[in-house]
Amino acid sequence: MGAGGEPLLELSGVRAAYDGITVLHGVDLAVDAGRVVALLGPNGAGKTTTLKVAAGVHPPSGGRLLLGGRDVAGARAGDLARAGVCLIPEGRGVFPNLSVRDNLWMMTFTGRTRAEIEDTAYTRFPVLADRRAQPAGTLSGGEQQMLALARGLTTEPAVLLLDELSMGLAPLVVADLYERVADIAREGVAVLVVEQFATAVLKIADHAAVLVRGRVPWQGHPDSSLHAELSSYYLGSAP
Ligand SMILES: Nc1ncnc2c1ncn2[C@@H]1O[C@H](COP(=O)(O)OP(=O)(O)OP(=O)(O)O)[C@@H](O)[C@H]1O
Ligand SMILES: [Mg+2]
Repeated sequence: MGAGGEPLLELSGVRAAYDGITVLHGVDLAVDAGRVVALLGPNGAGKTTTLKVAAGVHPPSGGRLLLGGRDVAGARAGDLARAGVCLIPEGRGVFPNLSVRDNLWMMTFTGRTRAEIEDTAYTRFPVLADRRAQPAGTLSGGEQQMLALARGLTTEPAVLLLDELSMGLAPLVVADLYERVADIAREGVAVLVVEQFATAVLKIADHAAVLVRGRVPWQGHPDSSLHAELSSYYLGSAP
């Protein structure tokens, strides 16, 4: 991937299980600073589990998780968060009954002031400024994702893990969100994006990996051949 630099985030032979049932059977993935990697695959493939392992939310049962070249497998979520790993979970991760402003103010634990946090969020996502007093649960789906991203970015992450950013959103909204994600990557963040449907994220992805039943049968540059690969994997006709 990057010209000689070592990846910021690397999963090597990662295995994971729930209640003794293995769902990741040796996943290899690497994300460089400033790059967007798309992890694609059908329902139940293990995409969310991969992100949970990368964020320390779920322990790997084997393999290595490297952050800046250091093996952090088994480290807790809080430690990885402090080391710069930020997971935006499926389903947006905002507090629906709290206002936009209150959702942002909760991030003062990062040491930044309320004003700094609001300024940064509204500069990146101006629509949130207009909605600052509105309960987050009444924002549109796309605005809720912007708020979730704005909250995550206050931690100044080195690694951003995004789970199904596009869920339930119109294609134009998704395309706009992914432009913001591309901006975030250009600022030097290593971004790993999970999606079931590939179209929007592949426009900004530098690298793509396909995950099927806990294995990565294909990864490479997201060129046009990937679409054919994907449809065969999704339909289950590929090995
Ligand atoms: N907490 C859990 N307990 C037991 N099994 C789980 C748990 N979470 C996930 N699984 C199982 O692990 C497998 C992978 O799930 P995962 O959520 O990682 O898939 P996914 O690729 O994110 O799917 P989707 O596209 O539907 O979000 C599935 O078979 C799922 O049922
Ligand atoms: Mg999932």
